[in-house]
Amino acid sequence: MIQKNIVLIGFMGTGKTTVGKILSKKLKWTFVDTDYYIEKKTRVSIKRIFETYGEQYFRSLEKEAIDDIFSSTNLVISTGGGVILNYENVEKLKVNGKIYLLHGNFETIIYNLENSRKKRPLLLKDNWKNKARELIKKRKDLYNLSADYIISIDNKSLDDIVEEILSIHSNI
Ligand code: S3P
Repeated sequence: MIQKNIVLIGFMGTGKTTVGKILSKKLKWTFVDTDYYIEKKTRVSIKRIFETYGEQYFRSLEKEAIDDIFSSTNLVISTGGGVILNYENVEKLKVNGKIYLLHGNFETIIYNLENSRKKRPLLLKDNWKNKARELIKKRKDLYNLSADYIISIDNKSLDDIVEEILSIHSNI
């Protein structure tokens, strides 16, 4: 049976990649992480793409990646946190997929990012917490508008999150 793809959206540090990997293993579906896909295709790291060519260029690569993958099926797709900035991306991802928003409160996100923000070009400056707060505020409506389902990650284990998504998805 062909089922809708599982598409994970959400802010940086909400666990999209980790949750996506576990889901894909459980379902025996192919896992695609759009950032990793871009890095493989261009052979340049996301950090370097931002440094050398800027955010706009990264967004065009992100759109290209969505174009490449959205029509395939039986995928678990983890997106970059900014994928919702272009609603065309969201529309494409909905063609064959259901969109799950991983939603965490500010404290959860900051806690998760403490050790990994250096990999995030948008959060490299000393005032990264303010920057994160500002981006979350700016994107909040877009995340909610794009989501078919909203999954809270606060105080939940990875297993809880995965099981919640699987139970919703198996009833679609
Ligand atoms: C971004 C999130 C990153 C990556 C890039 C931009 C964003 O992905 O795509 O650094 O604009 O929120 P993660 O959400 O996987 O960190």
